[in-house]
Amino acid sequence: MPVPLSTVASLYDRVRRVIPPIEWPAFTDDIEAILALKRKRNAVILAHNYQTPEIFHCVADIVGDSLALARKAMTVDADVIVLAGVHFMAETAKLLNPGKTVLIPDLGAGCSLADSITASDVRLMRQRYPGVPVVTYVNTSAAVKAESDICCTSGNALAVVESLGAPRVIMLPDEYLAQNIAAQTKVEIIAWKGHCEVHERFSPADISELRAAHPGVTVLAHPECPPEVVAAADFAGSTAAMSDYVGRHKPSRVVLMTECSMSDNVAVEHPDVDFVRPCNLCPHMKRITLANIRAALEENRHVVTIDQNVAEPARRAVERMLAI
Ligand code: 13P
Ligand code: SF4
Repeated sequence: MPVPLSTVASLYDRVRRVIPPIEWPAFTDDIEAILALKRKRNAVILAHNYQTPEIFHCVADIVGDSLALARKAMTVDADVIVLAGVHFMAETAKLLNPGKTVLIPDLGAGCSLADSITASDVRLMRQRYPGVPVVTYVNTSAAVKAESDICCTSGNALAVVESLGAPRVIMLPDEYLAQNIAAQTKVEIIAWKGHCEVHERFSPADISELRAAHPGVTVLAHPECPPEVVAAADFAGSTAAMSDYVGRHKPSRVVLMTECSMSDNVAVEHPDVDFVRPCNLCPHMKRITLANIRAALEENRHVVTIDQNVAEPARRAVERMLAI
């Protein structure tokens, strides 16, 4: 059944603050097609907070941070899940929905953290620190998760680390997230040298310059930023926690030290807040477009598969996290 044109036109009201009128016509054909394809294929689109507004606000059914996407993936009632995000997120959705078709619109949508560590690296860490539990950030491949005791996200990392009741834990692969959690707990954290290519670029000098240029600005940072950046910020939290912070505190002016689309997506919900926008783009997140979401649904590509021997232990690590 075709989607009424009035439905597509009314979507523009949601995004008019962040998409200029001259750009909107370039999106409407794909939006219309995607809305019709979702009905035809009984599909849902899960979109991460870093997706561009025409995806996040106009075609996604479920949006959120990595933790919310994993939790909500467990409750999806559809035959097909399209993951508008990066590959590890699609793998997590598949782990939690082994019987459903999970599609990632571009196989090149990776992550520098996921690329920083392999399953054999984790086995070597276990040999080096026998008996020390391994907490793995969800920003990793299923093969790495399969070697881990439990997963975490930036939204629950402290709770996960403390849930183990161990004096020491190995926390992989994000060195800065590990250091930022170590600053909040008595548990000794053994880290890996992985970094997010987006968040490692922020510096405390950036924050000083912003505060000088915009007196009174509230600075929020993602915990993948270096510890000195987190220390110089007013608040650090996952993408969902930053969005909640803006909703709860309604700062008159705010800067989000994170990926660029975050500010656009949160700004849509908070027209009364002024967003200062120095940001860094995630090239992997930006590989997902309306055009390749449409192609994913039309051509059933790219189907996410996970080897059975990897899927079972990886699922256990994710489910153990979700049980906390
Ligand atoms: P969140 O879990 O905070 O959404 O972070 C995911 C991510 O990739 C941040 O770079
Ligand atoms: Fe990975 Fe960083 Fe991109 Fe998030 S922002 S997907 S951690 S490279």
